[in-house]
Amino acid sequence: MTKIYVLFISLFAALALVACGGQEEIELTIIDLLEYDGSGDKAYFAYEGVIYDVTDSDLWEDGSHFGRYAGYDLTSQLEGAPHGTEMFDNVPQVGVMIPLELSTEDLTEYDGASHVYMFIAFEGTIYNVTNAEAWEDGEFNGLLPGNDLSDELTADDVEGLPEVGVLVD
Ligand code: HEM
Repeated sequence: MTKIYVLFISLFAALALVACGGQEEIELTIIDLLEYDGSGDKAYFAYEGVIYDVTDSDLWEDGSHFGRYAGYDLTSQLEGAPHGTEMFDNVPQVGVMIPLELSTEDLTEYDGASHVYMFIAFEGTIYNVTNAEAWEDGEFNGLLPGNDLSDELTADDVEGLPEVGVLVD
């Protein structure tokens, strides 16, 4: 009798798991996220590694929110907002950000000219310098984005820059 009881409970647990399994967490890189800018089916933004779905929010129509845009990691943008993360409480969390993996050759695409993003690599890590003050002229001390600058930069130069991926050469 106990055996049948245990079997029944296990079956119920398995069914419950399958039923809830439909809401699987998605995993996106900073480049994947660009697709979810609200111009298509979905509007997502990322904040501190978590992906939020604002598709159904009236305040994010077409992915636009007071000059901030879906499709981006907005971690650094909240400072200028009149609210904090309490606003996220009723917004569905749909996934997490994962590191981008690029070869040194693929990195060259992110030079600021051919892509919306400017990235550099330093000691195996890829940093996003698109909004970095030191890189606002599209270069830093004559150095150009889209390159592995391990030999040219120091750890101080990359401190505080958003880490978005890893070099996989
Ligand atoms: C200057 C920049 C911004 C302004 C002026 C602004 C303004 C607002 C206002 C007025 C609301 C509604 C507040 C309420 O209902 O009491 C709101 C909600 C919200 N904001 Fe912002 N915001 C800004 C930046 C941001 C940023 C950077 C993020 C994300 C990191 C963000 C995420 C949200 C979310 C998720 C909501 C709730 C939407 C909903 O529940 O449908 N906001 N914002």
